[in-house]
Amino acid sequence: METRLLPTDPKDALHESVREAVRILEGGDVVALPTETVYGLAGDVTSPDAINRIFEAKERPAFDPLIVHLPKRDQLGEVADVEPALEKPLRRLMEAFWPGPLTFILPKQPSVSDAITAGLPTVAVRMSSHPVIKRVLHELGRPLAAPSANRFGRISPTSAAAAQEELQGRIPLILDGGACSAGLESTIIRLEAAEPKPIIHILRQGPVTADQLKKFGKIAKKKKPRRETDAEAAATDTSPQPPMEAPGQTASHYAPRTPFRLLTSPADFSPEAGKRYALLSYRGEAKDGYLDLADFEEISILSPGSGKVPEAAVRLFFLMRQLDQLGVDEIIAEPVPEHGIGAAIMERLRRAAAEPRQSA
Ligand code: TXA
Ligand code: MG
Repeated sequence: METRLLPTDPKDALHESVREAVRILEGGDVVALPTETVYGLAGDVTSPDAINRIFEAKERPAFDPLIVHLPKRDQLGEVADVEPALEKPLRRLMEAFWPGPLTFILPKQPSVSDAITAGLPTVAVRMSSHPVIKRVLHELGRPLAAPSANRFGRISPTSAAAAQEELQGRIPLILDGGACSAGLESTIIRLEAAEPKPIIHILRQGPVTADQLKKFGKIAKKKKPRRETDAEAAATDTSPQPPMEAPGQTASHYAPRTPFRLLTSPADFSPEAGKRYALLSYRGEAKDGYLDLADFEEISILSPGSGKVPEAAVRLFFLMRQLDQLGVDEIIAEPVPEHGIGAAIMERLRRAAAEPRQSA
C-alpha cells in the first residue's frame, strides 16, 4: 500500500488534507495525524473495520485498549457513563486541562465496542488541543480511536517522519503537522469518588503533572511493584498475571532496538573495550560527570538550551530514535531531575531500559 504524506500548512493545504483524511475515515480506513503529545493512528470509533486496521497496522495485541478522542466536550456522554458523584470533579478537571494532554479512564457506554476497550468495562477518553486533529474531528463529527502511531512496543512518533518510519506501507495517509509540542504521551488518570476530595490515580505519567493535578483531588500513592520491574516478573513468573490497570504499560513499552542503559550516577558505568557507545545526556555539561565516561560515538543533548525538563520531554523520543539508528552497541542515558514532567521522562527511560517482556 502506498502511504501518502500530506502537508497541513498553509491554510489551503490544511483544508485539502483534512478533507482527504475525513474521506478516508468515513470509508472505514485509518489515518496518522499529529496531536500535541505524539502522532496518533486514528479510526472512526463506530467502524469495526477501522478499529481492526488500527490493531493490524500497529501489530498491537488485542488486550491493549485504545484511547478515544472527542470532537467536543459535550460528546463525552456518547462514549462514557459518568457516575453522579464524579460529575463535578470530572468537569473541573476537563475545564482545567481540556483540550490538552490528559486522558480519563471512565466506565464505557455499551455502544463502545469491546475491540476498542479490549473487553474492559472502561474507556480511555481525551480531547487534544492540536489544530489538525481538532479540525478532522470537527469535520467528521464523531469520536476517533487514536492510539500512538507506532508499532507495538516501539517509541511513539513525535514527527511525521517518525510516523512514516513506523507505518509506511501499512496505512493510506499521514497528515504532516510538524513536531509535537509536548513530546510525551498524555497523562492517564482514573478518578475515585471520595469526600471531601476525589482520589486521583495516575496510571501513566505525562505532560500534566501530579503537581498540577493535586489541586483537584488527593493523588493516590503508587502501588509497589511486586518485583523490580514488570520484565523481571514476566521472566520469572509463569502464574497467571492479574489484569493490569493500564494494560499497555508493559515494561518494555518504549524500547529502542539498541540495548539501552539508564544510569543513576556516573559511577555506575565503565566502558567495555571494543564496544561502541552513544550517550543521551541531559544538559551536555562536563560538570555533570557523564561526558567523559567513554569515547562516545555520539552525544545527544536533551536540554541544550535553558528549557530544562520540558525541553527534554519534547526532544526525548526524537533523539532516542536518532540514537537507535546509529548502530552502536549500547545507548547510555543520564538521569534527568524527577520533578514536573521529569518524572514522566524518567518513567519512559526506565521502560526503555527494561528487558523485553516475554509475553508481549
Ligand atoms: O497522548 C496520547 O495519549 C496518545 C495520543 C495519540 O492521543 N495516545 C496514546 O495511546 O498514547 P496509546 O494507545 O499508545 O496509549 C494508551 C494507553 C495504553 O497504555 C492503554 O493500555 C491505556 O492507555 N488504556 C486504554 N484504554 C484503557 C482502559 N480502559 N483502562 C486502562 N488503560 C487503558
Ligand atoms: Mg503507545
